[in-house]
Amino acid sequence: MRVLILGSGGREHALYRKIKESPRQTRVFVWPGNGLVPGEDRVNAAAIAADFSPLADFIAREKIDFTVVGNEAPLVAGVRDYLKDKFKNHAVFGPDALGAQLEGSKAFSDDFMREANIPHGSSVIADSLSEALNALPAQELPLVLKADGLAAGKGVSIHHDYASAEEKLKEIFDGRIFGDSGNRVLLQKFLHGTEASLFALCNGKDALLLPVARDYKRALTGDEGENTGGMGAYCPGDNLNDAQKNYVREYIIEPVLKKFAYRGLLYVGLMIRSERADDLAVVEFNCRFGDPETQSILPLIEGDALEYLLWTDDAQPQNFPLIVSGAAKLVPYRRGTVVNVVLAARGYPGAFAKNIPLQFPDSASAELHVTGAGIESRDGALFSTSGRIANVVAWGKDRAAARERAYAYLREFSAANAGAIEQLYWREDIAASL
Ligand code: GLY
Repeated sequence: MRVLILGSGGREHALYRKIKESPRQTRVFVWPGNGLVPGEDRVNAAAIAADFSPLADFIAREKIDFTVVGNEAPLVAGVRDYLKDKFKNHAVFGPDALGAQLEGSKAFSDDFMREANIPHGSSVIADSLSEALNALPAQELPLVLKADGLAAGKGVSIHHDYASAEEKLKEIFDGRIFGDSGNRVLLQKFLHGTEASLFALCNGKDALLLPVARDYKRALTGDEGENTGGMGAYCPGDNLNDAQKNYVREYIIEPVLKKFAYRGLLYVGLMIRSERADDLAVVEFNCRFGDPETQSILPLIEGDALEYLLWTDDAQPQNFPLIVSGAAKLVPYRRGTVVNVVLAARGYPGAFAKNIPLQFPDSASAELHVTGAGIESRDGALFSTSGRIANVVAWGKDRAAARERAYAYLREFSAANAGAIEQLYWREDIAASL
């Protein structure tokens, strides 16, 4: 089987590593990948967003059997629909354009959750600055503002006072910092609790749950600073019990399957308030694997991940082992914990330097590896290209051991990059607490 993965981040690099372990693959490409993916497996072309004809040419030329869509932009632009129309017998991982709207439009997602009685943070939707400013004084603080459309993980901000919310709304509507993605904004109730990322592989009718991961979205140690795409993660996250998983399967994932015949990965971002099965709420749906959670989840998955991914497209019968617990079917995973600490450019998610030279100590092992994200290789040397640069991914027999291994590597990394360390940062508390 010849496989093509679309995307360039740590998530796509993790998918590449996992799919390469499959005895069924004969070739795995990543388009465009990053500087830590072996050069011979990278497609040296601009990332696929909304123009799919170069993709169709490549699939035909390279006889690709299965396209795994890593990032949201092509899904929202309809890549699944396009490829299914263009090729007979071509398998695709990811939802159709309608299902992808659960991430592509936060207002669409909010409407759906309201209709389906899915617990979530209630929202007011504003289509103009004046509508948003009129609604603002009636909102409780803290308040969450969400750009309706895709904003590369930067569209959500949390406000503890009305003045900063007003300033942000002006930046979005007048300054157009998110372009058309900010034509509509959600003013949303802030949800208190601990976060859990639950990923479900869906085949239109049924869902398989992956082990829960915990993502750390704030930029700085101690959960301070701005919201980011995610600064680290660990798996398994231990704050979602079996009754809660069953509740999510029955009352949150089932309505998505019924309404959208959803296929691919459904990312259910949850806020957990207590141990009671229904004392939780959806923070967000996404239509693809999470980043950086995936880098922590995939190394723990037992068996051939390619089979699980193909099952979502009906390209593989369900002949793999599963754990059944009430309404929930779970993908088996091995013991231990995987911690992923994101190496970022100082200033991210605001302004940051690019082109930072990087050296990775050669102490990777079966228990530790580094996946690339915003990084490129030029003449055998590595340089940063964006805010989230790489992921240090460590396994340990428990959370503390995995964490210790990841941070020991980062101490070595600091020494090897003494000249550039002022331009880099990472959180010091990934997996230190729930
Ligand atoms: N880690 C958050 C996301 O992938 O959207």
